[in-house]
Amino acid sequence: MANHTTPLHTRVAREERIDLMSIVPSDRGLTPKTRTDKQGGGSVNPNFLNLSGAYLFSEIAQKVKAYKAENPEADIISLGIGDVTQPLCPAVIEALHKATDEMAVAASFRGYGPERGYDFLREAIVTHDFRARGIDIEADEVFVSDGAKSDTGNFQELLSKNVRIAVTDPVYPVYVDSNMMAGREIVYLPCTVENGFVPQAPLLSHQGGKNPSPLGEDGRGLVIYLCYPNNPTGTTLTRDQLKVWVDYALQNNALIFYDAAYEAYIQSEDVPHSIYEIPGAKQCAVEFHSYSKTAGFTGIRCGYTVVPKALLAAPSVEKGSSPLGGIRGGLNALWNRRQSTKFNGTSYLSQRAAEAIYTPEGKEQVKATITYYMENARLMREALTGMGFKVYGGVDAPYLWVGVEGSSWEFFDWMLRSAHVVCTPGVGFGSAGEGYVRLTAFGNREQTLEALRRVESLVK
Ligand SMILES: Cc1ncc(COP(=O)(O)O)c(C=O)c1O
Repeated sequence: MANHTTPLHTRVAREERIDLMSIVPSDRGLTPKTRTDKQGGGSVNPNFLNLSGAYLFSEIAQKVKAYKAENPEADIISLGIGDVTQPLCPAVIEALHKATDEMAVAASFRGYGPERGYDFLREAIVTHDFRARGIDIEADEVFVSDGAKSDTGNFQELLSKNVRIAVTDPVYPVYVDSNMMAGREIVYLPCTVENGFVPQAPLLSHQGGKNPSPLGEDGRGLVIYLCYPNNPTGTTLTRDQLKVWVDYALQNNALIFYDAAYEAYIQSEDVPHSIYEIPGAKQCAVEFHSYSKTAGFTGIRCGYTVVPKALLAAPSVEKGSSPLGGIRGGLNALWNRRQSTKFNGTSYLSQRAAEAIYTPEGKEQVKATITYYMENARLMREALTGMGFKVYGGVDAPYLWVGVEGSSWEFFDWMLRSAHVVCTPGVGFGSAGEGYVRLTAFGNREQTLEALRRVESLVK
């Protein structure tokens, strides 16, 4: 492990760190104990008062802004928030121009689109992302969205309130916060060096583990969020490791919400691009996709969610053990019902832009950008390992999970002040993230290399 000095071990940093742990109730905000929902004219959902003070990335942005205000000359490089830096590829730009011109003419103008998304995009998704991999998904199982954040955050609305939610620790904060807003109990599955960052399925009491987890057969359903390639650790599950989870979900009548936002970064043969590569997954899993990191759509906004028709909502309501409580009907129909009430679709322009990445030129251009970012990841892995850091991820994902000395917020402060480099403190993703920071490979090459040079000069 590299040595680094942490000149800013201040009390303030410690207090802020505590506030920023996104999965524990904040001691800064009002809690349900200090404010009841009887107060005021407009009662608020008390579950919101259990959330941490701010969404992790907003808090980081505020800290960086404050530092910049005090040090306007500082040339800050961000390897923190997972936004991309490379422009949209030419095929996408061309499609956007063409779609814009269509909007200028009455005959080709488009208003509200079909609620599940335009056929041209859903057909392209089915052909290229699924059938090309031997997976049989139909176009009416695909729901085009404005990105995976909305859908991973909103899908829990279909669940009954008493369903237990299992998430990995560390975790993409949206899964936790959206379920906390709904007042659900959350169970954490630690992903650590010891288990190779592979979450262990919770043992149910009837499975006779020595320490049966709280997930006994008490009639409450279970929904598991899995994100692979993983944000924040950059690690993956092999086909065999994912099969364990699919089998577990089928045996225990659990649902898996599988976030495949980083699927396009997979390089290894034995890492699945979709959970539907695993037999039986259509009976137990919803899958979320995003074009944000695949094709630089963080500002364009487009993604999609696959809800197989085989996914039945209430297989054992009588026993009370369905994750969906009393709702009847297929999940596909329910999600359609939810979306048509609360969502008016992503723009025609965004959908034409997304379609363009499936053309031969689009595919090639998108691949070139992914290769560029993955070369950043390789350079970062090599350099940081050479400096003595323990580095995980970065092989099939654009994220590197780097072990640091001391707390991850202290390291964040030290990097910002000493190297003017922004990282994301691992503890912001959950308590098992303490002692790590997340770096992204989404920077441009020069800035990434410059950031590495700065860190190296400090740890030498
Ligand atoms: C794991 C994961 N899921 C979903 C998203 C959200 O993606 P989108 O931009 O499509 O909303 C992100 C974005 O960083 C992410 O890391």
